[in-house]
Amino acid sequence: MQHNTTPGGALSRAVVTGAAGFIGSHLVDALLAAGTTVVGVDRRDPRTDPGAAARLAGALDHPGFTFVAADLRTCPLQALFLQAEAVFHFAALPGVRGSWGERFAEYTACNVFATERVLAACEDVRVPRLVYASSSSVYGTTNGGATGEEITPNPESPYAVSKLAGEQLCLAHAGKATSTVAAVALRLFTVYGPRQRDDMLIGRALTAALGGPALDLYGDGGQRRDFTYVGDVVRAATAAATAPVTMAVLNIGAGVSTSVLEVLAAVEELTGHAVPVNQLPAQAGDVEATLADHSRAADLLGWAPRTALLQGISRQLAHLTANSPQPVGA
Ligand code: NAD
Ligand code: UGA
Repeated sequence: MQHNTTPGGALSRAVVTGAAGFIGSHLVDALLAAGTTVVGVDRRDPRTDPGAAARLAGALDHPGFTFVAADLRTCPLQALFLQAEAVFHFAALPGVRGSWGERFAEYTACNVFATERVLAACEDVRVPRLVYASSSSVYGTTNGGATGEEITPNPESPYAVSKLAGEQLCLAHAGKATSTVAAVALRLFTVYGPRQRDDMLIGRALTAALGGPALDLYGDGGQRRDFTYVGDVVRAATAAATAPVTMAVLNIGAGVSTSVLEVLAAVEELTGHAVPVNQLPAQAGDVEATLADHSRAADLLGWAPRTALLQGISRQLAHLTANSPQPVGA
């Protein structure tokens, strides 16, 4: 196996898939700030999609940024990846609860088939490193304690199955005797912060408290998540691009488990308003609790989370109320 990534230092050129999305757009901003030339790929086109335009507002006019509107299921990728030192593969259909039934065809195409295309193109043009956005959902139901990467995955939704399949494809490519691509899969735990997707809890709870639609509360609100701030996730991703490993799976989570009801209390404290809720049944695929043991990421990346939940939610609130791009910090 031969891998060429140089440890340490900023990348000179990188590709971000899912660049118009929540996490991908923050990654683009961070890479540009570090002096990296960035090619962002997404099927959502900021020229026609206002959400994509808002997320990429800070990047589109940057001289180091090129945006390519393309669908990873079909578009030729080699030319886009030429000379990249790393591809950050963050494009996917990300919702857990919407992945049942008919939509699974699109989940497999975008999350599995497209990931294989991305990996094959990395090999074709000798991109030395791929960083893959995997998911805490691959663990399924746990004993409620901190989960280490050695625990056998037990995905409980079609989405989680698709993310685990993508992760396994990364490891299969990186593990080949003839491999030229190193792969680091980051199992991200429920990410939040400015620009969060509008199907996710914290943004919906803030919007409800500020007078928007009532929050659909799934189940009794006792379910717990390891909510992880997007700026912390971006630091982990950039560190993963140069870490001296050929293949790795790493938990990226804050290491604190918080219930949905505790999140609602925090939102009420920060906004000064109650969060109106519609009580709905628990949703298929939603696990009871997630909590990361992130010691492997600490060892391999020198990474540790920095942002406490109240601080992160208050940044997300500031972004919502200002309705304009804010520095995310970390
Ligand atoms: P997002 O939906 O905001 O961003 C994903 C982007 O991928 C979207 O802009 C979408 O248009 C793009 N995309 C999807 N299919 C595509 C295709 N076929 N071709 C081109 N572009 C395509 O989601 P996000 O929350 O930013 O998640 C980013 C990544 O992180 C995903 O891979 C997701 O599975 C993973 N992840 C997210 C979280 C979280 O809490 N947000 C947690 C764990 C893992
Ligand atoms: C999140 C992301 O959406 C997935 O892309 C990601 O893969 C996953 O984290 C992960 O960690 O791997 P989820 O944990 O469901 O998924 O994140 P939220 O949508 O913020 O939901 C958190 C909790 O709030 C869940 O228990 C959910 O049932 C609940 N919730 C969410 C509600 O009660 N109402 C809502 O409107 C939204």
